Amino acid sequence: MSRTIIVSNRLPTKALRTDDGLAFQPSEGGLATGLGSIYRADGNVWVGWPGLFVEDEAEATFVTEQLAADSMAPVFLTEDEIRDYYEGFSNGTLWPTFHYFAQLAVYEEDMWKAYVAVNEKFCRAVLEQAGPDDTIWVHDYQLLLLPEMLRAARPQATIGFFLHIPFPSYELIRVLPWRTELLQGMLGADLIGFHTFGYMRHFLSAVSQLLGLPNQHGQIETPTRSVLVDAFPMGIDHQRYADAAASEAADAHVREYREALKEVRVILSIDRLDYTKGIAQRLRAFELLLLRYPEWRGQVSLLMVVVPSRDQVAQYADLKVEIDELVGRINAQYRTIAWNPVHYFYRSFPLEELAAFYRLAEVALVTPMRDGMNLVAKEYVASKADQRGVLILSERAGAARELSDALIINPTDTGQLAEAMHEALVMPEEDQIARMTNMQALVRQYDVFAWTKLFMDRLAHAKSQQQTLA
Ligand code: UDP
Ligand code: G6P
Repeated sequence: MSRTIIVSNRLPTKALRTDDGLAFQPSEGGLATGLGSIYRADGNVWVGWPGLFVEDEAEATFVTEQLAADSMAPVFLTEDEIRDYYEGFSNGTLWPTFHYFAQLAVYEEDMWKAYVAVNEKFCRAVLEQAGPDDTIWVHDYQLLLLPEMLRAARPQATIGFFLHIPFPSYELIRVLPWRTELLQGMLGADLIGFHTFGYMRHFLSAVSQLLGLPNQHGQIETPTRSVLVDAFPMGIDHQRYADAAASEAADAHVREYREALKEVRVILSIDRLDYTKGIAQRLRAFELLLLRYPEWRGQVSLLMVVVPSRDQVAQYADLKVEIDELVGRINAQYRTIAWNPVHYFYRSFPLEELAAFYRLAEVALVTPMRDGMNLVAKEYVASKADQRGVLILSERAGAARELSDALIINPTDTGQLAEAMHEALVMPEEDQIARMTNMQALVRQYDVFAWTKLFMDRLAHAKSQQQTLA
């Protein structure tokens, strides 16, 4: 039977060092949470990094055994690889470039070499797992070279690639010294997927301008094979979030938080700590709301969950300081003994507590500067059984293409964002219900299972067409 080998830098489970030894916990981030629901079917295996530097063979064996029991195969990275491939090229070069923060990007040959070497390491790990009939599905920007490396080793293999972040305009891509190699790496796949048509168009344009390869209806003819490119907006496991929100555990949390917050209304934001997420801009907009509309003081709090992320990368550490200062300033200025303007949490939460936050929030603020998709927006929608609640969504999140019933804003426009918060807080219930009903229908129908099936069917089709051509 043919299986699917899923490959991504980060596994959906991460190993952590605790006082009692190694422990395991679900990973954060849309790729891990989104695909976490589907990979276990049909003997599939997920190949990736468990998120921790293992110190000896015994630890490596322990982690390998624990993960194998849950269909995962770890790729271990050395401390140098974590620095140069993960923090360096992946998150210091590609991440800022692909999110239009090119001024933050570093261009270091050593980091590039580490990126190539780690992609090769992943290639060996995948080849160990994959049988000749298995389908290989590679994910995200940390592994752009992997499809071509796998193709060289297994010319007949069925290989899919999906990018979970934006693919930027050619003008950004052309700046990268290694642009040709990166595009060629991706073209090793039979099917390349993006969250939106916009990202797909940018990719086709970059391939045409940099590699001189034309395309027709999303099909690129390379000298050896044809490669199909298409848009597949990723969904969530709707049922899982709806169930979590309806669970007794979430009920208990909602009661507990409600008691603590009394009558105060909640605006919610949940992100990894990342400069792409617009967290500081969002805080300034909340501050402006309190300034322009004094009637909300004492009435509304911003509940802000910031999940620690990539804290060894300088810009992330700097942003942490900026957020701490902004929260301190707003709370110091406006708080009273009875009311706290910003409830700020710098940690991650288990699903039932997140579900309770989603339920409690009358408004969700999802205002990234750039975001491939943003699954938090969809999770908020899925958690609203009573259809009350307003989503404020950045026009530059992939999710805005689908969730057009949200209040769509430009995240750099602080004034517009403050006005949108006010509008959300006074929105009549029938408007909230009408908007939420439409968004829920979409999030329910195009869930992560439908997304996977669409991608896999398309991949099988692309492969069969290709074979008839050959
Ligand atoms: N998340 C989590 N624990 C938390 C906060 C968030 O697991 O404490 C999850 C959240 O539910 C969502 C994911 O992290 O599924 C974030 O995905 P998104 O696409 O919004 O952004 P990304 O982090 O991938 O850029
Ligand atoms: C985004 C990326 C993922 C990544 C996640 C968390 O969702 O698209 O590839 O896994 O962020 O980031 P991290 O660096 O902790 O894996």
